[in-house]
Amino acid sequence: MSIVYLNGQYMAMEDAKISPLDRGFLFGDGIYEVIPSYAGKMVGFTPHIKRMQDGLAEVGINLDYSTQKWQHICQSLAEKNGNQSLGIYLHVTRGADTRRLHAYPKDVEPTVFAMAFDIPTPPKPDRFTKQGFALISTEDLRWQRCHIKSTALLGNVMHYQQGHEAGCNETLLYNQKAELTEASSSNVFVIKDGVIITPPLDNQLLPGITRKLILDIIKAHSSFELQERIVTIQEARQADEIWISSSSKEIAPVISLDGKPVGDGKVGEIWQQVASLYSEHKFDY
Ligand code: PDD
Repeated sequence: MSIVYLNGQYMAMEDAKISPLDRGFLFGDGIYEVIPSYAGKMVGFTPHIKRMQDGLAEVGINLDYSTQKWQHICQSLAEKNGNQSLGIYLHVTRGADTRRLHAYPKDVEPTVFAMAFDIPTPPKPDRFTKQGFALISTEDLRWQRCHIKSTALLGNVMHYQQGHEAGCNETLLYNQKAELTEASSSNVFVIKDGVIITPPLDNQLLPGITRKLILDIIKAHSSFELQERIVTIQEARQADEIWISSSSKEIAPVISLDGKPVGDGKVGEIWQQVASLYSEHKFDY
């Protein structure tokens, strides 16, 4: 039975109830986070909470939860749900008004919900055992504020579904100028001639915490050249390796794009090295 947190209380999932007038339900008016936790140890807790607080401030949701309070909630949920490999999911909406009106209501308490769900325990990075991912690519048709981790994910969901229906694990997205943005639920890295390239942060993509940790770990513990720059879908098609990253999958090697092999069609050597470094250092941040 899974134990969740709702507005100050822990309870069984079945007992957690919210109003149909909650603006999260009506408008997708909320901000969320997913923080990985392995055997009770969280990865990137501080940057995850900072990103959520930035998102709440940007959309004008006033919530007086301190970082310590979030830490307590996350740790309690991990403990109450068996301390295995968990994604700790935090979700804050603008709250439930007395009617459906677009304008932000005054004097409404935000709704705070949190739960834990199972995520895979990352296998030891190994070129021969880690299965590679297959991607399709398509034009990014989401909104212009993709840097906000909004619960309004229909654009992402529709893109994810495109890949899913094509029998793929993810959908890689590019803008009207054919520049990669990210994938429907992951950031992207393109590797060419030993250089690790990822699109720069702007309004077109989520500032992924896994992306940030990967960049920090590469800078601190390797001599790979890193470039945060515009990278096109054409470059991705010529790449030696492609990776996608997110809190639940860490760094996943991509072995096919639109039905064609990436590089030699096998999990890449550089992925193996960087995924090993990530395993070693992910708890340092
Ligand atoms: N997805 N880009 C998008 C659109 C995402 O939804 C995610 C994460 C990422 C990677 O961010 P991070 O490394 O901070 O997890 C990039 C989460 C896990 C989800 O919606 O389930």
